[in-house]
Amino acid sequence: MSRNILLLPGDGIGPEIVAEAEKVLHAINNKFDLNLGFESALVGGAALDAVDNPLPEDTLDKARKADAILLGAVGGPKWDGLPMEKRPEKGLLGLRSNLELFANLRPAILYPQLASASSLKPEVVSGLDIMIVRELTGGIYFGQPRGVRELENGEREGYNTYVYKESEIRRIGRVAFEAAQQRGKKLCSVDKANVLEVTVLWREIMNDLQSEYPDVELSHMYVDNAAMQLVRAPKQFDVIVTGNMFGDILSDEAAMLTGSIGMLPSASLNSEKQGMYEPCHGSAPDIAGKGMANPLATIISAAMMLRYSLGEEQAAAAIEAAVNKVLDQGLRTADIMSEEGTRVSTHEMGDAVLAAL
Ligand code: IPM
Ligand code: MG
Repeated sequence: MSRNILLLPGDGIGPEIVAEAEKVLHAINNKFDLNLGFESALVGGAALDAVDNPLPEDTLDKARKADAILLGAVGGPKWDGLPMEKRPEKGLLGLRSNLELFANLRPAILYPQLASASSLKPEVVSGLDIMIVRELTGGIYFGQPRGVRELENGEREGYNTYVYKESEIRRIGRVAFEAAQQRGKKLCSVDKANVLEVTVLWREIMNDLQSEYPDVELSHMYVDNAAMQLVRAPKQFDVIVTGNMFGDILSDEAAMLTGSIGMLPSASLNSEKQGMYEPCHGSAPDIAGKGMANPLATIISAAMMLRYSLGEEQAAAAIEAAVNKVLDQGLRTADIMSEEGTRVSTHEMGDAVLAAL
């Protein structure tokens, strides 16, 4: 039976980088006889422009039926002034919540070939390999009530609600403990339990779960300290688990430790292991259409998709090996350029990965 991949290029550099990943997927499909079928659909600003809805019914429908989804990026200044429900980001958030993609895996890995790209000293980051497990369908991103209201004195007040149910904490905790078991067996849960009740509960549930995973060493850290420790001594971390908003912030920070956010993939999974895969970097509207974007994060996301949602380990490893080969060859897009590198365009980078395959 053919397996169905939905491509959602989205906005900004999204279409350029997804096109390169699609080329690679077609090649790997032939090479390993994977029987993949491809469809595409609109999301984000592209969908707003076409049908005035950041997440059209047709897109959601295709997403529900897909075995896996590869997304480029959404958003850009063109749509910034729109009301909240008409923002491109609503397309992405709607996909996450409708498909219940609660587990967001964001690795931050320093590629040895790119060690000089980090703004931190080589000895602080060399060998860095952290996995951030971010809860993705709850917390303050989705909590009700939310909005802007008018007070009696006529002043306006904005409000959001930070909520987590026990069951939501437990299921993301399990994903994180299991990830830690597969890796260095260390899990750090990040919260703000000195101030926020919701994260007091978070900490309690994580402690509870620990007894089911006696081989994993659990620690806790307040989010402000975690932000500091990530730049002070990032190699102390193996797996980090945290809520939606803290995870949003810390994963950008962790990505930048590697100096190359253009290299980092992510996976968002539900309990059926159906997944949406996307680069961590966003739509980069300032360089869109210039052939400058780095397609490698999207190509590595495609590898992650083959591994986690389609069970095609060999094909995934082949893509990763090809990426390593082009890095060894010194090929660099602008974001990871260094003195010794050879500067290539988005398209040339995609072609080089194809050739390496
Ligand atoms: C991310 C992004 C999104 C988020 C935006 C685009 C809604 O920053 O995936 O980290 O905040 O989750
Ligand atoms: Mg973010």
